[in-house]
Amino acid sequence: MKERFNRQVTNIQFSGIRSFSEEVSKVEGIISMTIGEPEFATEQIIKDAAIEALNRDFTHYPPSVGFLDLRRKIVEFEKEKHGLTYDVSEVVITNGATSGLAAVFMALLNPGDEVIIPEPMYVAYAPMIAYCQAKLVSFDTSSEDYQIDEAKLRACVSEHTKILVLTSPNNPTGCVYTQESIDAIARVAKEYGFFVLSDDVYNQLVYLDHLPTIHDHTELRDQIIIAQSLSKPYAMTGWRIGYLLGETSVIREIAKIHQYLVTGISSISQKAAIAALDTDPTRVREIYRRRKAFAMKRFQEMGLPCVEPQGAFYLFPNISEFKMDSLAFCRKAAYEYKVALVPGVYFGRSGDTNIRISFACKEEELKEGLNRLEKMIRDLRGN
Ligand SMILES: Cc1ncc(COP(=O)(O)O)c(C=O)c1O
Repeated sequence: MKERFNRQVTNIQFSGIRSFSEEVSKVEGIISMTIGEPEFATEQIIKDAAIEALNRDFTHYPPSVGFLDLRRKIVEFEKEKHGLTYDVSEVVITNGATSGLAAVFMALLNPGDEVIIPEPMYVAYAPMIAYCQAKLVSFDTSSEDYQIDEAKLRACVSEHTKILVLTSPNNPTGCVYTQESIDAIARVAKEYGFFVLSDDVYNQLVYLDHLPTIHDHTELRDQIIIAQSLSKPYAMTGWRIGYLLGETSVIREIAKIHQYLVTGISSISQKAAIAALDTDPTRVREIYRRRKAFAMKRFQEMGLPCVEPQGAFYLFPNISEFKMDSLAFCRKAAYEYKVALVPGVYFGRSGDTNIRISFACKEEELKEGLNRLEKMIRDLRGN
């Protein structure tokens, strides 16, 4: 045997966030603000739908693209909630957004293709792209308060550009693209014809009255693929359910590889998802909105610069004043001040001047965690 493992897999590392969180969770009395999932339980009405599915023996292989009743529900939901027009044949049910993202990259990318992603970026994209032997082309958006500078974007485009990934609201910044950013992306996408993969998993957790989206550019419909998930808005991270939307000929190719990856998605989770889409995430969104306001006020008191997030449940304050890299800062925070934060470097090299804080944790933990961070900052400043 010449090589024991696939070279691409050997080069991939386990998620830094997971390993760092696991490492520091052993610190006694630590408060964790690393977690990217709602602390809330899934609503009873959703759990009841799952129990009913079990009792009605939905325990067999489901169709590989998902149950028709769920796909119909999604079509209705997307029309009503976001004004999108998709046919049931343009929906594939996925394992959270994650298996959908993987299938998109696998179906679209050839070795040498390029994928443009604004930095900082969600951690799962880069390893998947590397696995496909494609090239990640990222550009730093921090000096634009995480918005898109059209010239910077254009500088990334080449004849090999295949996909641009857009995540708004964003993980890790919580920032939402302005209409100007969206229009800039649309102009460039139209001109060059590459796909836009819109990772919309946080689009129901938005603190603005209006979320500008690429989907309003209907001229791009055939180029856009939407990755969606029930994990975040409905506190269903463990149910592993999400979906993809895209033009028929594109989604067909994606569905082919997705079928071989997963066979199908848990029939119980699919039936629960139908009930979930009838529930309203407004209550939790309002809780997050209050927490965000609280955390921003505390950052102001600490004198810690942070671009105000307008969605998701993350804050990405800047720590460059302390002249430490983000991992060193987070290690010190964990081991000396007992507060677990995520090093910004995990979201791209330019994120090394920042830390990610999740306010999806319990309220008391958020308060106490920020108190501990304040103490650390005071000590570092020597006052
Ligand atoms: C931007 C983004 N996309 C996708 C996912 C994947 O989530 P899931 O597979 O639970 O839908 C996450 C999870 O944190 C995320 O932050």
